Amino acid sequence: MSNEQIVYKTDSLTPKEIKAAVRIQLQELNEGFLSSLGEKPLTLIFSFAASNPSGVLVLAKNSETDKVIGYVLGSTNTRRFYKEFLAKRFVPAVVYFLPRMLSLAKIKKGFETLLYPMRKKEENTQEKKCDAELLDLAVTKDYHGKGIAPRLFEMLVQQFRQKGVQCFDIPTTEGLDRAHHFYEKMGAQRVGVVYVHGQQKTFIYQYHIEENGR
Ligand SMILES: CC(C)(COP(=O)(O)OP(=O)(O)OC[C@H]1O[C@@H](n2cnc3c(N)ncnc32)[C@H](O)[C@@H]1OP(=O)(O)O)[C@@H](O)C(=O)NCCC(=O)NCCS
Repeated sequence: MSNEQIVYKTDSLTPKEIKAAVRIQLQELNEGFLSSLGEKPLTLIFSFAASNPSGVLVLAKNSETDKVIGYVLGSTNTRRFYKEFLAKRFVPAVVYFLPRMLSLAKIKKGFETLLYPMRKKEENTQEKKCDAELLDLAVTKDYHGKGIAPRLFEMLVQQFRQKGVQCFDIPTTEGLDRAHHFYEKMGAQRVGVVYVHGQQKTFIYQYHIEENGR
């Protein structure tokens, strides 16, 4: 594979491409609330991010095979993003989410996820608050270590910059050592820890766009 074979797309994403990104999410990140929702609800969230000004979805594709091999998902303001998602996609959200949420454990996890941006504000001791977030980034295993993830990260920064974002948070689950190393390599700094789901730690990394000169 040469780097020329990889194309990065932010616009005119097709439903098939979005579904392929969701499948990478389910394959590469099989823990956490988002993955537990399953394919259809996740597809709703990803599609909303692709079409809403407060969302960003960038896909990496192998142009020879036409396969999606990675993606990055972000929001310029996560509280607003979830609020708008519920307001604008209420009916499909209820239809798809409810059957999957019909267990107390999942309802609890769901609320914890939705309330997390507020808790983050309370618990993050750093002075600077960032409303924007990198919500998710994944590359299929065959393409790890090949420069795809750094390029996706840069594309997200570029999109955020165009939308006036100066800094963004990156919540990551404890134990994702490769991801932590990756974010540190990209210039992000760990600024806090939040307990989103019970005793499971979520590390908050923060990235300042101007300071890193991207
Ligand atoms: C996180 C992810 C997108 C990074 O993409 P990638 O192509 O693997 O990234 P890179 O290879 O450029 O960087 C990973 C770094 O971690 C290092 N690394 C590998 N395994 C590691 C480990 N177990 N512990 C610590 N560092 C590790 C690599 O050597 C590399 O550092 P280097 O470039 O200084 O050598 C990719 O690994 C992935 O999709 N993982 C599964 C999904 C995921 O965890 N996403 C994060 C959700 S927040």
